[in-house]
Amino acid sequence: MEETSWGTVWITGASSGIGAALAGLMAGRSDRLAISARSGAALGEIAAAAPGMLACPLDVTDRGAVAACVAALEADGPIDLAVLNAGTWALMESADLDASALRRGMEVNYLGVVNALEALLPHMLARGAGHIAITASVAGYRGLPKSVAYGPTKAALINLAETLRCELAPRGITVTVICPGFVDTPMTRDNPFPMPSIVSAQDAAREILRGLERKAWKIAFPRGFARVMALLRVMPDALYFHAIRRFVMKGEIKPSK
Ligand SMILES: NC(=O)c1ccc[n+]([C@@H]2O[C@H](COP(=O)([O-])OP(=O)(O)OC[C@H]3O[C@@H](n4cnc5c(N)ncnc54)[C@H](OP(=O)(O)O)[C@@H]3O)[C@@H](O)[C@H]2O)c1
Repeated sequence: MEETSWGTVWITGASSGIGAALAGLMAGRSDRLAISARSGAALGEIAAAAPGMLACPLDVTDRGAVAACVAALEADGPIDLAVLNAGTWALMESADLDASALRRGMEVNYLGVVNALEALLPHMLARGAGHIAITASVAGYRGLPKSVAYGPTKAALINLAETLRCELAPRGITVTVICPGFVDTPMTRDNPFPMPSIVSAQDAAREILRGLERKAWKIAFPRGFARVMALLRVMPDALYFHAIRRFVMKGEIKPSK
């Protein structure tokens, strides 16, 4: 079977982890591959290793910078596929809730995607074509312990992607939501808890590439773990809270005296 190839692809959060691995895989599959993140040096090194790869350093929370990047890319040709993958994670319990950390999570993970959508959609809508993939997480399926600064940002992204899918499919634009389980990247390296079924960034990138080729609505992996998380999503609330207390928290968080 012939391999899918793309004209122009833009990947955010491509200086490390999943985004960098995906950029490596997509390098030979696209005419032009633009990679973004804040660290220009890391992007430069990645781009130097592959012809046709272009480093576009930016902070996704900077609405003007995101708009300028999309405008510059579009001036040279249409962006066919955008993988909006930049993200940040902070381990936090509700007892330590810090509004600045929650605000930061929303600004990067959620509004970073919104900034990109604002810049991309007018071009894609005018063409009646394009593919937008948003990296959420299985952590967005239900509220999880210690995820107060992260899970809600990913739940918001899943909800946003559903709305986009409803409204944009009839206008010729494909929307994909990517829901990884645990992936071994700089983001997870210091996690002090067990990470069942963790996969490498390379394996994650391969799963994502396969899903993008199929223009899948959802790319959730690793399959077994993602299925368990999907089951939690539809589980009755009382059963869900009982299961989390018993199997995840295991009495770790003590009630107040
Ligand atoms: N690892 C997992 O287990 C896992 C599971 C589910 C979902 N995810 C999601 O997968 C995506 C990639 O994460 P990863 O695991 O590959 O972690 P990672 O290696 O830490 O990658 C995060 C990427 O986002 C970029 N980034 C962070 N803040 C940014 C900002 N304000 N503006 C622009 N770029 C920014 C980082 O680059 P700079 O620091 O250079 O900006 C980096 O390239 C994230 O959305 C994450 O939430 C990860």
